[in-house]
Parts: sequence; C-alpha cells; structure tokens
Amino acid sequence: METRRDFIKKSAIMGAVLCLPISLTHESQAAYPDLKTRNPKKALILWYSQTGQTRRYARLIGCILKGKDLTVDALDIQGIDKNILPDYDLIIIGTPVFYYDTPSNISEWLKTIPSIKGTPVAAFVSFGGPKGNQHNASCHLLKLLANKGGVPVGRDAFRNIASYPTPHWNSANQSSGQHLPNAATFGQVRRFTADVLERITSNETISIGYEPAMREGLRALPLVWMNKKAINKHTVDAQKCIGCGTCVSKCPTKAINPFKQIVDRDRCLACFGCLNNCPVDAVVMEYRGERLYGFPEYLKRNKITIIEPPEFSTCS
Ligand SMILES: Cc1cc2nc3c(=O)[nH]c(=O)nc-3n(C[C@H](O)[C@H](O)[C@H](O)COP(=O)(O)O)c2cc1C
Ligand code: SF4
Ligand code: SF4
Repeated sequence: METRRDFIKKSAIMGAVLCLPISLTHESQAAYPDLKTRNPKKALILWYSQTGQTRRYARLIGCILKGKDLTVDALDIQGIDKNILPDYDLIIIGTPVFYYDTPSNISEWLKTIPSIKGTPVAAFVSFGGPKGNQHNASCHLLKLLANKGGVPVGRDAFRNIASYPTPHWNSANQSSGQHLPNAATFGQVRRFTADVLERITSNETISIGYEPAMREGLRALPLVWMNKKAINKHTVDAQKCIGCGTCVSKCPTKAINPFKQIVDRDRCLACFGCLNNCPVDAVVMEYRGERLYGFPEYLKRNKITIIEPPEFSTCS
C-alpha cells in the first residue's frame, strides 16, 4: 500500500525526471544471443486484454501467421503455464497500455518466465492515446523478454478506442464517423507481422530505444494509488448481479468477490476490468462522487460497432 511519504518521495523524483527528459533516452545495445531459428514453425502469441482490443490484434497476427503455414497458439497470459514458452520458436506478446506503461501484473509475470534464450520475440501494445507513452510501454515489454534471452525482432503500438472509464466518456476517437480500429489499423498489424518474419529470415534484430517523453515522467507518480483515492465507492450491486463470475475471471489480483459484494482495495490495481466487463452494470464505482460506467455501455451510448478484420471470416 502506497503511503503519503512514498507519494511525496515519488513526486520529487518525478520533478527531477521531468527536468532531465533526455536522461530517459537509452538504447539497449546489449549483444543478443544468436537466433535459435531463421525459419520459425511454431509461434506463441500471448495477449492480455481487458476489453478485447489487444486480443483482436493478437488474433489477427495469429491468422496472418497461420496463412504463412506456421503452427500458432494464441493464448491469454492469465492462466497459462509459463513453462511452455521455451517450446516455441517465435513469441509475440501484446498488452494494453495502462497508466503510461505495461500493466504491472504483466511486467511482474514476465520477470518470472523461464529462459527463452535465442527465441525471436516481438511486442505490441494497444492504446487509447493519443499521448499515452505507448512507444516506451512496448519497449518495456520487449526489454522484459530480452532479459530472459529473447531476441527482439519487432515492436509496434496500435491505436484504439480508449477503455479508461470516466463519468463523461467522450467519443473523440470516433471523429468523422470513422471507428477505431479501422482498415489502417489492421494494415499496420499486417505490416508489423510481415516485418517480424522478414527480420527473422534476414537475421536482423532491433534495438530497444526508449523515447524521451514528458509522460514517461508521470510513471514516477503513484498513479494507481492516486486513482484509488479518487474512487470513493467500489462495490457490487447485489440486486443487479447475476453471479456470472466475469469480474472474478477478469480481475488480475483476485480483489473482487461479487458474492459478498467485497472489493479488496489493497489488492485492486484500478484496472477497471470488473466495471468494463460486467454484463449487467452491477459493478458500482464512483469517481469523486460520480458514478462510472463501463466500456460496453460507452459503446452502446455512442452507437459504436467495432469493425473486425476481414481475415476473421476465414480464420478460426
Ligand atoms: C486503467 C487504464 C489505464 C489506461 N492508460 C492508458 C495510457 O496510459 N495510455 C494510453 O494510450 N491508453 C491508456 N488506456 C487505454 C487502453 O490502453 C486502450 O483502450 C487499450 O486498447 C485497451 O486494450 P484492451 O481492450 O485489450 O484491454 C488505459 C485504459 C485503462 C482501462
Ligand atoms: S477489482 Fe480492481 S484489480 Fe480487480 S478488476 Fe476491478 S479494478 Fe481491476
Ligand atoms: S460480472 Fe457483474 S454480474 Fe457477473 S458476477 Fe461480477 S458483478 Fe455479478
């Protein structure tokens, strides 16, 4: 649990960081191990997704790779056995950007995976942006994989509909009636996947270059802690709850118990996965006294139908 003292300390650090943004830039020029293959046959696509957007890109990448005759497993990070990772000769990981970074439960998980020495690895993030530190978040994922011996061959960031709930969602992402993701986003995903394969074939790696960004400085703030302070109510409406358990399976820290209407505020990461996935609006959250509503309700109120890539009609 973040204390006030920690908060003040981190705020001071942030001030220093913002004064020296250039110090944040560093290129990871570490010598990578040799690639274990230049002709991958078995790919693992790992995704973490709260509102389905990252999962959509993971699935599309899987379809593209299958079209190139690779065997593909596209799996939710939550609940997989990490010991399967060394069995693959290509690993691609995708997460949303949360609080200007990789979701903390995923970075912690990546620190515990076994050695994947020589395995080509690529990372992507989906984000709500436009200024949300996406580049650095994807570099962070790649760095964690490289720390385990992965050889970086690609990274990218795909723009989306923001899933961060507010009492007053706006539809800025939907300007001109053009819904995100759109054909351009899917084109970017196809290029990313093709580039990854091309780099492996030509034995070309990429360096992990963090960009100087004001938003990077914000990571020094205890953003989750501050948000949790602003969320003055977080519980479950017993009258509305249908006991489907979706919030439990979506919660990365097992912080919610809908059957007892309890949320363990110490464990909660303020990821809004419970609110954003409850099918009947039974998760009650108030932000500074105002009731929040989740992603499905946002889509409904704005009459947004998310476009799916054409590949999905032929690829299971
Ligand atoms: C708790 C939370 C924090 C977020 N923080 C950021 C952020 O810092 N930068 C950004 O670009 N998008 C941010 N977003 C938006 C998500 O990254 C974006 O909507 C993403 O595509 C959601 O992916 P998913 O549907 O796979 O969960 C945030 C969303 C949530 C719920
Ligand atoms: S209880 Fe907290 S950590 Fe769990 S899904 Fe809800 S917001 Fe996320
Ligand atoms: S997702 Fe909603 S309806 Fe389902 S158990 Fe949780 S609170 Fe109840």
